[in-house]
Amino acid sequence: MPHLHSEDQYKMKKNMRLVHPNLPRIEEFKKHLSDIWDSANLSNFGKYESLFRLGVKKYLKLENVVTASSGTVALTIALRALGTGKKILSSPFSFPATIQAAILNGSDVDFADIDPNTGNVSIDSLLKFDISKYDILLFPHVYSIPCNIQRICELTQGTSIFTVYDAAHGFGTQVNNKHLSSFGDISTLSFHATKILNSGEGGAILTSNHNLARKCQAISNFGLDSGDSQDMAVGLNGKMSELHALLGYMNLKIIDRVIQKRRSLYHRYIRNLAEFDLGYILKPNEDSNVKMNGAYMPIYFYDKDSLLLAERRLKDENVETRRYFDYRIDRAYAFFSGRRNPLALPIFENMVGNVLCVPTHSKISSRDVDRVCEVLVKK
Ligand SMILES: Cc1ncc(COP(=O)(O)O)c(C=O)c1O
Repeated sequence: MPHLHSEDQYKMKKNMRLVHPNLPRIEEFKKHLSDIWDSANLSNFGKYESLFRLGVKKYLKLENVVTASSGTVALTIALRALGTGKKILSSPFSFPATIQAAILNGSDVDFADIDPNTGNVSIDSLLKFDISKYDILLFPHVYSIPCNIQRICELTQGTSIFTVYDAAHGFGTQVNNKHLSSFGDISTLSFHATKILNSGEGGAILTSNHNLARKCQAISNFGLDSGDSQDMAVGLNGKMSELHALLGYMNLKIIDRVIQKRRSLYHRYIRNLAEFDLGYILKPNEDSNVKMNGAYMPIYFYDKDSLLLAERRLKDENVETRRYFDYRIDRAYAFFSGRRNPLALPIFENMVGNVLCVPTHSKISSRDVDRVCEVLVKK
């Protein structure tokens, strides 16, 4: 990695946040806010929900987008549209929301183990299951690293199994020049403040299946307008408000610049840490044609002592980090359901709590990245 000039060797006194939400210029935001005030229309699929939804649809080149009040609600609605009480095969390395959405729909969940290079579901582990016993495969693309979509597609081809991807992290990442969030029967997004495209709180359901989109739309609005799908008559309030939609709409206007910046920081981290010997960066396999959105920089440490050391040194330099993910979803689910997972999860057990995410966002510079890396590689 490049060595720092002596004048750069100062302590990082300023707090370096792990994430910093993108915000539009306040003057611009206020202008549109006046528009909302004048209309006195604050929710129920108003002008800005429509502008944001159509903007996302166009950007991601999708057939159908249904907005929601959060990523968790988007997932809950998506799974609800596929029916309650379904049998789901998932992976345990994620934010709790992925599985909570399944539990809220009364599903039974089994977990396959994960791939140590990506943190996503391991195909070898999936092959140990009788896939035909499941109604839904539910997998997160963690840190926006794509799951092995092609293999998962091959496994489900010719079956009635639905594939749902939790693409909460994935806005803007591309696989073979296609947006990551356009794969599967359904993909869901989060627009939470910490996400690369944010609306403060928010989410979306994406699908090329018009019937499923119509069901999701009805469920997000108390099950109203569900037409002849009487089974969808029980819904919830999952609507995105005009205020959130406005923020999302304005942030969407600058998303290309944001992704470009994040990508360059991401590649700088990868170059700087190429020889890092305490762990490695979780990332797509070299031979895959993936353009990452650069939203996360996850470092998987070989052991807890190394992670603790890095965490402490970065804290001393006022650099925020987060152990992400650090949730024993499998245990929480076993406790809740009284069910035992059919398979041991050794790779997950080793990875959970041992991945440290370091800062990458629009407010940091490439020099900041170099400084974080200097601290990490210090002997
Ligand atoms: C993988 C994953 N799925 C779902 C969610 C839930 O999104 P939201 O916070 O918008 O409900 C998150 C939130 O961080 C997440 O990381």
